[in-house]
Amino acid sequence: MTRQNDEPLRVGLIGCGNVALSDHVPAYLSLPERYRLVAIADPTAARLDLGRAASGLDPADCHADSAELIARTDLDLIDVCTPQHLHRDLVIAAAASGRHVLSEKPLATTPRDAWAMVAAAEAAGRTLAIMHNYLFFTEVVRTLELIGAGEIGPVEVAILNWLAVRDHPGNAAYRPSWRHDPRQAGGGVLMDMLHIVYLAEAFLGAPIERVSAWVTARSNDAPVEDITLTRFETATNAALVNVGWGVGMGGFAVSGPSGRIEVTYEDGGNGAFDPFDRLVVHGRSGRAEELGMPFEDGVRPLIADLADAIRAGRSPIASGAQGAHILEATLAVYASAATGRTWELPLVEGDPLYERGVAGLAELDLAPSSPIATKRIFGLS
Ligand SMILES: NC(=O)c1ccc[n+]([C@@H]2O[C@H](COP(=O)([O-])OP(=O)(O)OC[C@H]3O[C@@H](n4cnc5c(N)ncnc54)[C@H](O)[C@@H]3O)[C@@H](O)[C@H]2O)c1
Repeated sequence: MTRQNDEPLRVGLIGCGNVALSDHVPAYLSLPERYRLVAIADPTAARLDLGRAASGLDPADCHADSAELIARTDLDLIDVCTPQHLHRDLVIAAAASGRHVLSEKPLATTPRDAWAMVAAAEAAGRTLAIMHNYLFFTEVVRTLELIGAGEIGPVEVAILNWLAVRDHPGNAAYRPSWRHDPRQAGGGVLMDMLHIVYLAEAFLGAPIERVSAWVTARSNDAPVEDITLTRFETATNAALVNVGWGVGMGGFAVSGPSGRIEVTYEDGGNGAFDPFDRLVVHGRSGRAEELGMPFEDGVRPLIADLADAIRAGRSPIASGAQGAHILEATLAVYASAATGRTWELPLVEGDPLYERGVAGLAELDLAPSSPIATKRIFGLS
């Protein structure tokens, strides 16, 4: 039977970890006109049980093996919520089976894998979207509106401080410390929080072309970094982006020739982890202060946009190609910090960073003074 364009998309969700059960499942259940959650999968029995309880699905629709879910014939969209080193094979299999795909961020751990995923979706004529949910934070949406309205003129500078990121472990039943294993996570705090890289690019309004960075860890032989300080340059403007696990400063500001917009979170913390405090704009219309914006985790509106994009035949606000580009910008941070050089985008096929992600750093000429070298971060000697 032919499916109507306005029927809810039937979703299979792979990976019942923290983000899937706290954010994705509730989002699908709250959007019944756009989605019907039909099946879930997770090899960790305790998580599959929790997924069944959260989704209300029949046990027959709860699969221990993701391949069984992908083999079903009653799905329109597959949502991949596993740790990132597993995204490639699942996303490619899902796209090759003719489904639209949503992947959690980061899209993959290497650009080679990320672009293969984009190509697989294109070859199948299906949409690949990436969970760049911070684009939908209320204060981010408002900042982009003010920029778009010309309130501060063309953006010259964006400064984003996310130095109070909580180091949340993965769920206890699976591998709580996978975020500290570069082979699984593909990097440390910045890879986990590459949200801030795409936010910087969204504020700048142009693609990142050059990257220079300083990266460190609090102890020697740390498997991944704890802090990154970066300058991202486009053709015409630039952002300073500072990210760290810890209790450092937070908030962001964007400025242009006619003014600035500043966003702060309670007690100087940062978004997603600390409540919104205020947005202050000094612009063409004078000074204005906005308080009390509600917290929005961004997952639900992004998932809603994806259904609308599929129905309208347009690209989603956060596309797979954008996910691959932002992964490249994030890996360039590590390469710049490791070599002491400014790193150009896009990365080049055959380049160790493109092929192997952080594992490729070992093949670069490391700057002897770089903390990545002196502290042997990412297992480098
Ligand atoms: N967008 C956001 O704001 C946000 C927030 C948190 C996590 N994430 C991303 O979501 C992903 C998952 O993170 P998490 O915190 O939920 O991790 P988690 O450790 O809590 O859960 C991962 C789950 O994946 C399952 N899994 C492993 N292999 C699998 C397979 N082959 N098939 C199906 N399931 C499998 C595990 O059993 C586990 O339950 C990561 O890519 C992470 O970066 C995004």
